[in-house]
Formats: sequence, C-alpha cells, structure tokens
Amino acid sequence: MKISALFGTILSRKSSSRWSHLKIAVLCLLAMFASISLSGGILFPNPLLTPDSTGILSTYGKVDITNPFFQKLGTNGRTCNTCHIPSSGWTITPEDVQAKFYATNGTEPIFRTNDGSNCPSADVSTPRARRNAYSQLLNKALLRISIATPMNAEFQIIAIQDPYNCPETTTANPAFYRRPLPSTNVNFLSAVMWDGRETVFGAIPGKSLNLQQSLANQAQDATTGHAQGPVPTPEQLAKITEFETGISTAQAFDLRAGSLTTEGATGGAINLSQQDTYIGINDALGGDPTGAAFNPNAFTPYESWKDSFSTYRQSVARGESSSITFPFPSRMLAASTMHSSNPSSWAHAPRVTTRRMPAITLFRCRSPLVRRHILCNPHSTSTGCPSTRCCASPPVRPCM
Ligand code: HEC
Repeated sequence: MKISALFGTILSRKSSSRWSHLKIAVLCLLAMFASISLSGGILFPNPLLTPDSTGILSTYGKVDITNPFFQKLGTNGRTCNTCHIPSSGWTITPEDVQAKFYATNGTEPIFRTNDGSNCPSADVSTPRARRNAYSQLLNKALLRISIATPMNAEFQIIAIQDPYNCPETTTANPAFYRRPLPSTNVNFLSAVMWDGRETVFGAIPGKSLNLQQSLANQAQDATTGHAQGPVPTPEQLAKITEFETGISTAQAFDLRAGSLTTEGATGGAINLSQQDTYIGINDALGGDPTGAAFNPNAFTPYESWKDSFSTYRQSVARGESSSITFPFPSRMLAASTMHSSNPSSWAHAPRVTTRRMPAITLFRCRSPLVRRHILCNPHSTSTGCPSTRCCASPPVRPCM
C-alpha cells in the first residue's frame, strides 16, 4: 500500500502551503515508525498524528493497514480507505479527490461510474469527459447514492429537474449526492448512514443500537456497492467492525491554541476514546435510561482555559460555554435527533456534541418478492409497507 493512498492529499497536493514540508516530514516519520505487530499486521504509531489545515489531527487506536478495511475486497480497485482517509478525518475532501485526478488523469479507483460520476452512464472516455462526469466528486467530494423514496414516505417526488440529464435519475430512483461520513468515532453513533438506513436496533427497538450488526451490514453493502464486490466473509466483516469501533479521532494540536490537552484541557483523541457513552446519555428531552437528569453543562473539555494566560484559549473557553448556554428551541433539538450521526453544535452527550438518541430511521431490506431495495419506517405500523416482515420489530433486515 502506498503511503500516499493512505494519507490522501498530503504528499500529492500541488499547493505550496506552509504546511507541506511539515507534512512530508511527518509522513516520513510515520512510515519509519510503522511497525510489524506481534499479533501480525502492520501498525502505524498510536496515536496516529497527521497535519491538517489548522494543526494536527490524531487518531487513537490500532491502525493496522493489513485490516480488510485497507484491502481491495471488490472488483473495481477500491478499498474502504479510498473514501475514508485518516488524514482527512476518515472521510474525503475535494482536495483529496482533485489530487487523485491530477495524479492519474481521473483513472484512480475513486473514479468509477457506479457511484463516483454524476450519472452512471456518463461519458468517461477522455480526461476532459471525466472532469465533467466526476464534477460533484471533484468539486465537493460527493458520491452519487440512488435510493428509492420510501413506500410510506409522507411525500411524493412528482418531477425531477436534473442538470446532468441522467437517464438513471428518475422520480422512482432519485440521486442523492453525499459526502462519506467519517468511519471513526462510530461508538458515538445512534444511527448509521445519513438516513440511518443501516441502523439495526438492539434489544429495545428505538432505544438501543446493535452497533456491531449495523456496521457489519454497512461494510457488506459498501463492498457490494461502492467496491462492486462479492459479499465479504464473516471474518472480514468482523475485522472491519473491530477496526472501526477501536479508533477515535480528534484534533490534537491547534496552530493558535497549541496542544489541546494542555492547561487542564481534555481535547484530543485519547480523551475522546475514554468518554463514556450509551444511547440516551444526558438526553435533553429526559430520555436517559438511567433516569439521570439532563445536565446542560456537560461539554466542558476546555473549561479550564477560561483562566488561561493565552487570550486565544480564553476565547475557546468562552465559545464552549456559549454553545452550552445558548437556548436552542425544541424544534432544533428534534432536528439534531434527525442528524444525530453527524457532528452538530448541540452539547448534550458529555464531551460529544450530539444528542444520542436513535433518529426516526428508515430501514432497508431486500425483498425476494420485488427484488429491489425497500425502505420502511420501523416506527410506523405496517401501513404502506410492502412487506410486513420489513416493518417487523426489531427490523433487522429480515428480507435478506
Ligand atoms: C466510493 C466511496 C466509498 C467507499 C469505497 C466506502 N465508503 Fe463508506 N461511505 C461513503 C459514503 C458516501 C457514505 C455516506 C452514504 C450515505 O449515508 O448514504 C459512507 C458511510 C460510511 C459509514 C457510516 C458512518 C456513519 O456515521 O453513519 C461507515 C461506517 C462507512 N462508510 C464505512 C465504510 C467501509 C467499512 C467501507 C469498505 C467496506 C466503505 N465505507 C467504503 C463512501 C464510501
């Protein structure tokens, strides 16, 4: 595996930013310190430190590049790492994608028409055609995800205005263009994927999450979908989920504030990895299963900086405190629930700024009867659902 593949744009970016020399130096050090572990595999230093535009990002946990996450499990040359790059917070940025385009004239495995181009049937025969075909990916790092409207949706798509005139984009199969979600810090998730479609509930539907199963299903679908491969083996899926649940990522060093663990601050990936979490923790709407009352003052990693000698650190402490005390209307809280898998500015779970409750998720399963993906809402009665098995509780993709 090429170091540049693992770390995205850092080596290949054309820009002569003041960071570029430091970045190369850091990567050389990383390559030198990558070690063969006793249990097999090739481990990167722990924490894995990579430069970013505001300082240094850290990933704490075992980053073993022989894990199937970094292997080509499909037929189109992609790995999970193609779209989840450590130095970009385990997602991708337009800079990552553009660097790959420059380096390969748009033939690197991220440039595949199944979901990389604006339209699956786009012309990709020449570099110029490829630049047009992959414009969403190049300019915004967005992949094309096409999902039918849920059968029980409270809306209908009656017309589509498609700037790409894509024959595959229809009212029945609209196109969504989505940035890969970070495949790190997954222990804090309460829903998997932007629309929660890979979420599998635990013992208490709606109140608990079977994270391992959700991630295994997700990894399977990523392999058969993004990588156009066969279904991975249970061992491969287990290794991928073990890897994903074993890493935590956070900024470690800020150009202006310095170390984020100095003067009593508790930022950084190591502190994050030790953060307690469970579904409903410190829930603003009274849903904490332990019965504990909501503590609005739970997001405090930089509280000690209010007395710092550095005025910049003081401003960080003030920012943290105002994000806690700013009164959000309850509708915004509900919105935060819907987007609970994404970083947001709601300070509820201690140190982690999301409300940890499962969103109203749409579940996908494959019905042998209709031979296509079906979405159904597990919270609804089975009205409008094509298969009651889809909506059975717990809705663990029984149609597979
Ligand atoms: C071609 C790009 C691409 C590849 C390859 C890829 N992913 Fe992703 N990944 C995405 C996109 C895009 C999303 C968000 C899609 C959505 O929500 O509809 C995503 C979402 C995820 C999430 C959800 C995180 C969350 O917060 O809900 C996980 C976990 C993940 N990917 C892991 C993997 C694994 C494991 C593999 C390899 C087996 C993989 N990905 C391969 C693009 C990719």
